Amino acid sequence: SSSMKPPSRPELFDFEGVSMIHNFTDNWEKVKNFQARPDDILIATYPKAGTTWVSYILDLLYFGNDAPERQTSQPIYMRVPFLESYFKVIPSGTELADNLPTSPRLIKTHLPVQLVPKSFWEQNSKIVYVARNAKDNAVSYFHFDRMNMVQPEPGDWNTFLQTFMEGKNVFGPWYDHVSGWWEKKQTYSNLIYLFYEDLVEDTGREVEHLCSFLGLSTSVEEREKITKGVQFDAMKQNKMTNYSTIPVMDFKISPFMRKGKVGDWKSHFTVAQNEQFDEVYKQKMKNATVKFRTEI
Ligand code: A3P
Repeated sequence: SSSMKPPSRPELFDFEGVSMIHNFTDNWEKVKNFQARPDDILIATYPKAGTTWVSYILDLLYFGNDAPERQTSQPIYMRVPFLESYFKVIPSGTELADNLPTSPRLIKTHLPVQLVPKSFWEQNSKIVYVARNAKDNAVSYFHFDRMNMVQPEPGDWNTFLQTFMEGKNVFGPWYDHVSGWWEKKQTYSNLIYLFYEDLVEDTGREVEHLCSFLGLSTSVEEREKITKGVQFDAMKQNKMTNYSTIPVMDFKISPFMRKGKVGDWKSHFTVAQNEQFDEVYKQKMKNATVKFRTEI
C-alpha cells in the first residue's frame, strides 16, 4: 500500500555468544582487523553507562582549545567514532576512525571485552571503561530502546526488565560486560575503570583522576571550566552533545539526555521487581569482585 509503514525494529540474533543486531556486526571483518595505534584512546562501555559524557570530557581535555568549529559544528558522534557501528545514514565507525585527522584518536565501543579487536591490546592503547549500576543502567536502556527506532522494541517496563536479566539486550548481558572488563583491568594496566556514580558524585575529582591516568597536565582552571561545561544541563542544551541531530531518535518519546541521575531506578522498580532483580543479581554476580553503588 502507499500508506507510511512504521519503521521496522531490528531483531536480535546470537553473535559469538552475544545478543546483537546487524548494524553492529555487518562490518565485522573491518572491525576485527581494525588497526589501532599506540596513542588511540578507546572509550568502552555497556550502552547507557555514560559513554557520551566521558567522550565529551575526553574531547574537551584533548581538543577543547583547538579550532572552535570542532565544538560548535561537529556532533560528538562524528568526533568520537563508534567503532562497530554500520548505518546507512553516516559513515561506518571504522571509516570515520581511519579518517580521523587528530592525535590521539578517541574511539567509542560497546563491545564486550572478548570481542575487542586484538590490535588495541597489541598496540597497548589506553582504554577508559565506564560502568553504571545495573538498576539505573537498565532504566536508561529501557527508555533508549523506546525512543531509538534502530534498537529492538523493548515492550513495557516489566518485559524489558526480564529481557535485561536474561541478558537479551544489544551487546549482551550487563553482568558479563562489567565483570569481563573488570577482570581485564587486573592484567592490562593501560585501562582505567570509572563509575557513573563517581562522576555524578564529584565530576571534578573524576576529571582529575582521568588526567593523571592519561598523563595530562591540564591546569586547575581548565579542569574547572571543563567540569562546568560537561554538567547534565549544559550537555542537554548543547546540540552537539544531546543527539538532537540524529534522525532515528524520537525525543517526544524520551530525550537522549533524559535524567542523568543515580537512583532513578526507584521510580521504576516495584518492590517485587526489586526483590527479583536482587536475587538474579546475586546469582549472576556471585563470582564478580566489582562493586556498585545504586545510590549516592
Ligand atoms: P539517563 O537515561 O539515566 O538520563 P550513554 O551516553 O552511554 O548512552 O549514556 C546515556 C546516559 O548518560 C543517560 O542516562 C544520560 O542522561 C546520561 N548522561 C549523559 N551526560 C550526562 C551528564 N553530563 N551528567 C549525568 N548524566 C549524563
